[in-house]
This record gives sequence, C-alpha cells and structure tokens, in this order.
Amino acid sequence: MTLLVPRDPMGIYQILFAFASQTGSYIGDPGTRPMSQGFPLTTPVPGGPELPASIEVTATDRMYPKADGTPALRRAIADYYNTYYGSKLTDANVMVFAGGRPALVALLWMMADDLCVSIEETEYTPYWDMLRHCARNYVIVPSNEENRFRPSLETHRAAHSSEGQGRQLLLRSNPCNPTGVELQASDLDQLANWTRESNFSAIVDEAYEFFCDPEPRSVLAHVKEIDEHNLFVVGAATKGLQSPGARTGWVVGPAREIEVLRNYSSYGMGGVSQLSQNYVLRLFEPEHIAAARSAIAKFYNEQRKRYCAALVELGCEDYTGNGGFYSWVKLPGGMTAAECNKRLFEHKAAILPGELCDMHRRGDASPLARFIRVSFGPRKPEDFNGDIAALRNALS
Ligand SMILES: Cc1ncc(COP(=O)(O)O)c(C=O)c1O
Repeated sequence: MTLLVPRDPMGIYQILFAFASQTGSYIGDPGTRPMSQGFPLTTPVPGGPELPASIEVTATDRMYPKADGTPALRRAIADYYNTYYGSKLTDANVMVFAGGRPALVALLWMMADDLCVSIEETEYTPYWDMLRHCARNYVIVPSNEENRFRPSLETHRAAHSSEGQGRQLLLRSNPCNPTGVELQASDLDQLANWTRESNFSAIVDEAYEFFCDPEPRSVLAHVKEIDEHNLFVVGAATKGLQSPGARTGWVVGPAREIEVLRNYSSYGMGGVSQLSQNYVLRLFEPEHIAAARSAIAKFYNEQRKRYCAALVELGCEDYTGNGGFYSWVKLPGGMTAAECNKRLFEHKAAILPGELCDMHRRGDASPLARFIRVSFGPRKPEDFNGDIAALRNALS
C-alpha cells in the first residue's frame, strides 16, 4: 500500500508518455510534430520582439524571495493592466506564483467551503484534476456540439440555481482551451458586474490573453475598483510572453484575498524563484510588452485561420472560436481521436484527443471522443505543410 494516494498524470502528459513509449522520442524533440502540446514558440514570432538572452544574478537574488513576489514585478504587472485596460490596480492586488497552474491550485485549495464551482463541460484538461484533488463541489455547464461550445453566461447561472449549493464561483479559461471560444466585451462586462454581488464570484483564467482577435483582451477592462469585486484573474508569462520555462504566473484580485494568498505562500510555497521573476520583469518592459502584444496576436490569428482552413479541407468540422492557439475540430467519417493519434504517432506527430477536455471524463464514451485539439502554438510558419501532410495521411 502506498503512502500517497495514487493519482494519474494530467491528460496531456498521458499523451506525452504514450508518444515516448511508441516512438522512442520525446514530443517536441527535433523531427517531431508536437501538435498535442500547449506551449508557444520560445523564439521570436515573425515581426515580434527579441527575447532577453541573459539576466544578472546578484547576492540579493540569492536571498529568499518575498512571499508574494518581488515588489518590482508586482508593480509592473499592476501597471501593465492599468495601462492597457484602464484598471486601477496597486501591487496589493497582485500575487506571483510559479506558473498559472500553481496559482489555480492555490485558489481552489484555499477557497471557502460554501463556494460551488460552475465549469463548462469542455475545458482545460487539468481543471478536472484540480477540482477533484481539492475535493471541490462543482456543477458542469453544457458546452458541446449542440451549443457549438458557446454556452452563455446565463447558462452558468441557471446550472448553479438548479444544481449548485451555496455561493457560485464561475471558473473559465478565456479564450477557452481547447475551443478558442472567447467571451466578448459585453459578456465580460456582465461577468464583471455580477462579481459585485455577494453570492457570485469568478476566476477568469487569462493564460491566452494575447491570443485574441483582433487584439488582447481582459476582463479587467470592465473593472474599476477590484476591491469591490469577487473576482480573480489568473495570468502567466507562459504563453503570450513566450516563457513557459520561467514558471511565472500571477493572480490579480481584491487586496483582502491577495493577503490570504500571501499568507499561504509564507507556509506553503516560500515565494517564487527571484531569478525567474527578474527575467519576467524584463518582459514587462513597456517596449517589449507592447511589441509582444501586437505581434503575438497578429501571428497566431493568422496561424489559426490557416490551420482551421486546412483541417476543413481535410473533411473536419470546425468549431474553433477566435482565440487561443488551437484548432478545435470534429474528425470526418466516424474516426476517433484515439485512432487519429495512433496513425499520427507513425509520423512522429500527435494531437490532443477531445475526451481529455471532457469535464465529465467519460473516456471512450465521451461525445468529445471524435474531437481533436490541434495545437499550432509551437509551430513555425515553415512547419505548416508537413503538419498538414501528417494529418492528411492520418485521416485518409
Ligand atoms: C487555460 C490554461 N490556463 C493556465 C495555463 C498555465 O499553465 P502554466 O502552469 O504552464 O503557467 C495553461 C497552459 O497550458 C492553460 O492552457
């Protein structure tokens, strides 16, 4: 009998391990086509800024970091949102974590027991693991072929009224991973207003903030005084700032809640690598971030159109929204995603099978078993023809 409760790796890693055991390569190694993976290019995108190649390390950097993040980075993050979205954040509204997932886990672990999460049926794979392992109550909001993966915010409220208990906490990735469906400005305005009610709260996961069409978007554009809202925004340097290896993310929220997270860090995390925070601070320099915002949005919006059009030509049905760096499509001719991946592995390529985004986790019986998430996040323009050829072979 083990001492720890055995838990499987998160779905995306399951694909990684299956690929390694069948092909002898690590997905992402040269010569592979990592269309299953959710990382961006870590080299400049066409027209985008250079990424800093080194940072200085001083004796101060070797000291313990502050529990809530370096003052300089927290201020830079607050200034960034204030500049682009007109919010009025101070550094007391920002807490730094070692990436987006650690931020989300801390929120779900620390949240009050009477909160009940409402989450869409088709969502970011590890939300399921996080909710289960943090033993949270949750209700699932239909997001499927019938509503084209575009449930309204009212559907969240209705699902909570009929099935939920206690206060509601809406959790949503925006744009959504895997579907790319974005909440529009009017939805974000409504959502922000609802979070002023005492029984309604939200975590908006903006990992893909830069990957919106035509330009980056945040719910913070609809928030004047965040201290008056029950709202958390999760961001990270992982996608738009092209630095998943820096393991730096953050939570923006009311100062009273940020203080609770800071206390958590004092006993549960010990802060985040100062070296990483110093690196990410460079990415927040006004010139860098302005260039990154426009180049990332432009490049990936073009890539999305290109990949989606090619998949439609191969007979797939396209359900992709306007955001993110994934195509979300249904396979033609009754083929399952599992079969598609088996064939793709032969070409050293892989996609993410839709059932891994099913918050009901119905496995082979999932209505998402014929859906695939094709990631073009790590793909260069010159990879396109080979990627589509591998998909064509798998689908024929
Ligand atoms: C929706 C969503 N949220 C958060 C993250 C953050 O990931 P990380 O923990 O790598 O910063 C990701 C990355 O895949 C994501 O897709």
